[in-house]
Amino acid sequence: MAVVVIGNQLHTEKITLREQASFPVGVAVSPKRIAQSEYAKVVGQEFSSLTAENVMKPQYIWTSERNYDFSKGDSLVAFAQARQQQVHGHTLVWHLMQPDWLKNTIESYDSATLENLLRDYIQTVVKHYRGKVVSWDVVNEAVASNGDGMRESVYLQKLGDDYVARCHQYARQSDPDVLLFYNDYSIASNPKKLNTILEMVDDFQARGIPLDGIGMQMHVGLDLSLDDYQKALDEISQRGLKIHLSEVDIKVNSNGKQTTLTPELAESQRELMSEIVRRYNQLPEENKFAITFWGLRDNESWLTNHTGFPQWPLLYDHDFQRKSMYQGFLDGLETAQTTVDK
Ligand code: XIL
Repeated sequence: MAVVVIGNQLHTEKITLREQASFPVGVAVSPKRIAQSEYAKVVGQEFSSLTAENVMKPQYIWTSERNYDFSKGDSLVAFAQARQQQVHGHTLVWHLMQPDWLKNTIESYDSATLENLLRDYIQTVVKHYRGKVVSWDVVNEAVASNGDGMRESVYLQKLGDDYVARCHQYARQSDPDVLLFYNDYSIASNPKKLNTILEMVDDFQARGIPLDGIGMQMHVGLDLSLDDYQKALDEISQRGLKIHLSEVDIKVNSNGKQTTLTPELAESQRELMSEIVRRYNQLPEENKFAITFWGLRDNESWLTNHTGFPQWPLLYDHDFQRKSMYQGFLDGLETAQTTVDK
């Protein structure tokens, strides 16, 4: 195989994630970042799927009660189309990142007013992106943080227990083909949360509420229990749903004491990445939707702000060099064949 030297690193010329994986590999991006040429080049070569890290959230699209700004999301779709990448829509309904005007008015709406507004929002956005996105996270993080029942959000309070199901119906009415996901965090690490979500899935399936897949965000640390992760993959796939590892990053600095990514940490991260991919890759083809990373380079990860420390959680470093974690992804693809019958 042809090997070329770029900078001080060895690169195997033909290897890219999108060519190696049998399922789509995605990355969360912003219009600003993909406007940089080096960034655009790497994103175009490596990935076959894009998610907007922010610009397709209500905070960006929903400018006032019945006004919408699709310009930033559209620019991302155009970028993806030029590179034969699919786009995953994230997210129609979320208790966070709402536009200021909505934050200020939401408590004052009665149930029917809020329901109508939200229905119009969902339907307008889904129609706008019909044929342009393959999938949507319909409702994001609707389950309580600790996994015990539904989150006590303003949507639950005003619209009642069944609002997630109705949001799915509204989305389906506007696009018969787009895949509809429920997306949440800690599904792989909190069995209680997994259970609450499975109860919702079983209920949706019994009632014929449209649901095509589950987004497991996978903001994980080195302490992830592979048994819990495996259980989540098994339970969800057994229900015939697609699984999207939708926001993957691997924290290596949970206590904030690290000042660099040491070789030992990089190695642990590589190993965990490889196990995550290996087990995902063993799923039946029809259950694999995509694995999406929540950013390209360590220095741009949301986790630095969110946790208060650098976490070195992504595939690439600041200088656009592939990290050991990248190799871990490739290793996970390779070992899949031999362990299928375990
Ligand atoms: C994060 C973005 O990465 C940040 O840029 C933004 O400030 C906050 O939201 N779960 C989700 C994502 O579903 O939308 C979040 O993205 C990360 C946690």
